Amino acid sequence: KGCKLVGCGSAVPQLQVSNDDLAKIVDTNDEWISARTGIRNRRILTGNESLTGLAAEASLKALEMAQVEPDDVDLILLCTSTPEDLFGGAPQIQKALGCKGNPLAFDITAACSGFVLGLVSASCYIRGGGFKNVLVIGADSLSRYVDWTDRGTCILFGDAAGAVLVQACDSEEDGLFGFDLHSDGDGNRHLNAGIKENESNHELGTNGSALGFPPNSSSFSCIKMNGTEVFRFAVSVVPQTIEASLAKAGLDRSDIDWLLLHQANKRIIDGVATRLEVPKERVISNLANYGNTSAASIPLALDEAVRSGKVKQGQTIATAGFGAGLTWGSAILRW
Ligand code: ACO
Repeated sequence: KGCKLVGCGSAVPQLQVSNDDLAKIVDTNDEWISARTGIRNRRILTGNESLTGLAAEASLKALEMAQVEPDDVDLILLCTSTPEDLFGGAPQIQKALGCKGNPLAFDITAACSGFVLGLVSASCYIRGGGFKNVLVIGADSLSRYVDWTDRGTCILFGDAAGAVLVQACDSEEDGLFGFDLHSDGDGNRHLNAGIKENESNHELGTNGSALGFPPNSSSFSCIKMNGTEVFRFAVSVVPQTIEASLAKAGLDRSDIDWLLLHQANKRIIDGVATRLEVPKERVISNLANYGNTSAASIPLALDEAVRSGKVKQGQTIATAGFGAGLTWGSAILRW
């Protein structure tokens, strides 16, 4: 049994924030941000928008391209680290799409690797579980967890959603044929947003202390990152994981039509492309316009590349995600 990508879609918030805008709130400038990251603009969710809304919009576009009705979706995987409900956001997307078949819907939390994990999970559910139409959504709003006084991190992130429909097919049409996934909890010290400790939330009550357990601490810290370590990690593991996926797929570097990496930093993307000897004309990147949108970055860039006619049917895409966890992984796709 095979599985193939049959539709894609994306959605971004309205508010665009440029490097010059950020220079008004932290000590930075367009030249530094552009040169060190390749980012020029990012989109930020505002009060009248929601991540669920963006994810549903991206999903509807993917379904429309695939010519599949919401009622025919049997699994929704929401890859996000920033759900709008502690218990998971996927069922709310099911509701927003009006899927009447009560499809299974749940979240996958793996930061910037989330979408690659979602794709691989979709293929496993299709191949082993009899599922037919799986919506894989990457959606994140890291802006909600950014410390807007920290110039080392606040310049990097933006909000967005992207989605693909993965569909069961005959094995000769298979469009996902090699993957490689990893994590390293020890590296968490380099990039994290942990639950706040030792902080009472009086609104939620402090009565528990009478029974010996601490007051509720119901929020997460802002993103803390050692950029140099994360950079080093990315440029070393991403070429390795792509080589591993290619080997599993029985392919080699010369078979890559497009290299589509998680959009974190232009220097990381260029460094990986150089190591894999993929010429820059074969690298997909829209980082300049959106910054690092975490789990959304790969489906957002894929959607733009497909709709602009850059990626054509039958082409091979090497994709890789990497980030907090630490987590990383890659997959070889045929569009
Ligand atoms: N504007 C101006 N100067 C700045 C800024 C800024 N926004 N940020 C840092 N600086 C300064 C620093 O203070 C430092 O000054 P100093 O030399 O006087 O001490 C100098 O610039 C150099 O700082 P570095 O941190 O060494 O800069 P570097 O070249 O490493 O670039 C960056 C920093 C862009 C963060 C880079 O390390 C990077 O991109 N790392 C990867 C980060 C990443 O991709 N994270 C996301 C992972 S995905 C996920 O899962 C969330």
